[in-house]
Amino acid sequence: MKFLLFTFVGVVHLFSLNSGKAIYKNDNSQRTFQEIKEEVARYGDVAKAIINLAVYGKAQNRSYERLALLVDTVGPRPSGSKSLEKAIQIMYQNLQEDGLENVHLEPVKIPHWERGEESAVMLEPRIHKMAILGLGSSIGTPPEGITAEVLVVTSFEELQRRAREARGKIVVYNQPYVNYSKTVQYRVQGAVEAAKVGALASLIRSVASFSVYSPHTGIQEYQDGVPKIPTACITVEDAEMMSRMASRGNRIVIQLKMGAKNYPDADSFNTVAEIIGSKYPEQVVLVSGHLDSWDVGQGAMDDGGGAFISWEALSLIKDLGLRPKRTLRLVLWTAEEQGGIGGFQYYQSHKENISNYSLVMESDEGTFLPSGLQFTGSEKARAIMEEVMTLLQPVNITQVFRAGEGTDINFWIQAGVPALALTWKLRSPNMTPARFRGPQRKKDNGAAGT
Ligand SMILES: *[C@@H]1O[C@H](CO)[C@@H](O)[C@H](O)[C@H]1NC(C)=O
Ligand SMILES: *[C@@H]1O[C@H](CO)[C@@H](O)[C@H](O)[C@H]1NC(C)=O
Ligand SMILES: *[C@@H]1O[C@H](CO)[C@@H](O)[C@H](O)[C@H]1NC(C)=O
Ligand SMILES: *[C@@H]1O[C@H](CO)[C@@H](O)[C@H](O)[C@H]1NC(C)=O
Ligand SMILES: *[C@@H]1O[C@H](CO)[C@@H](O)[C@H](O)[C@H]1NC(C)=O
Repeated sequence: MKFLLFTFVGVVHLFSLNSGKAIYKNDNSQRTFQEIKEEVARYGDVAKAIINLAVYGKAQNRSYERLALLVDTVGPRPSGSKSLEKAIQIMYQNLQEDGLENVHLEPVKIPHWERGEESAVMLEPRIHKMAILGLGSSIGTPPEGITAEVLVVTSFEELQRRAREARGKIVVYNQPYVNYSKTVQYRVQGAVEAAKVGALASLIRSVASFSVYSPHTGIQEYQDGVPKIPTACITVEDAEMMSRMASRGNRIVIQLKMGAKNYPDADSFNTVAEIIGSKYPEQVVLVSGHLDSWDVGQGAMDDGGGAFISWEALSLIKDLGLRPKRTLRLVLWTAEEQGGIGGFQYYQSHKENISNYSLVMESDEGTFLPSGLQFTGSEKARAIMEEVMTLLQPVNITQVFRAGEGTDINFWIQAGVPALALTWKLRSPNMTPARFRGPQRKKDNGAAGT
């Protein structure tokens, strides 16, 4: 069930939408909405067949089992690693064995960063070994580490105000958690802002709404012309404690050691498979997830789940002997965690055909029990999408929210292509059955990415 929704929509709208061009160009078709609505409704039986196969039939647990096998076998798949390339080769083979069409790899140069050994020990006001996770692309420290006094701030504004105190220190950011997109700026730009005022290193409170003494990782970005300083995330608990210590006037000293290294860019690939459309083969509906992960987890949720439900969409169609009107294209991105490197390369290589892209989808928000889809596009296209979603009535997941997005598909969205993302988030207090409560969002609860 948890894997069903995205899969299903990927499948059904292919049959039902009038014309990708119509949507893309804000509807230049001659058909009335009523006619489109009737056409969508005619896919009720197809929809039921897909639901039955995915929820009750032989595909019931398939994407879960396929994903478990990959992540158990290969483990974490960080950008630039051998294990990522192994996963790509396995998927290439899996997609061919699945009988999908036009299975191929598209080359991408990707960053290669390794964290190495890392540690942080508070020396004053008391000895305390802290859990840390270095941030992607951070430089390391000298082998003997950096030992310095700490300046705790709660915002970039406070850092500006206290710029003179920051020189020669380790800046600790104890920014409050607002939401992921707002608060992640501290992880991404924290080192640059600290370096600008002469800090030696920066430690950032993990961008999380909840913590069990669990530091997060993710990408950070240096800026040309600003010195590069080592940077890592600390736990919410340690950030809060140092904040309390500083407000009591304690002098805090930390010894930070990081063995992080950046290597030359590595060769990698986006992995592509298709079911070629029967009527408009040149028109593309893209479903996707990313294969790379961070190094400190298995990457099952971020984003193995998204990658595998996208594959499942094609598998289900093939198993039922269906062929959509438009080409259904699966892309398993590489190096999303480094800032959508694979997604950007794909956009560069394929944007000349943009007018033949009907819809782009990415699932990278977690694949728990879905609450609906997030859509970005014209209001007319949204109305059609809402019709398509009525076909999901049998599983009672019919909602269409705002703001469909994804790191790898945002290039297309910005260029005007309609987009969908699977969501399991709560959007309205009216839909809060107990099973929905709990973590707010995948990215707040594990190794985080952009
Ligand atoms: C699905 O597969 C997983 C992994 O093999 C297994 O743990 C789980 O029990 C299965 N669930 C069902 C409903 O078959
Ligand atoms: C995050 O919080 C900021 C500031 O409150 C707000 O402007 C923004 O809309 C929020 N973003 C999301 C995705 O909720
Ligand atoms: C663009 O689309 C045409 C088919 O319409 C295809 O032959 C060609 O390979 C595509 N180009 C790229 C770069 O994908
Ligand atoms: C889109 O496909 C049509 C064929 O249906 C073709 O004539 C047109 O050139 C394609 N557009 C692009 C930009 O490739
Ligand atoms: C269907 O979903 C809605 C909202 O998501 C919920 O209020 C309702 O109870 C659900 N119905 C069933 C039969 O589960």
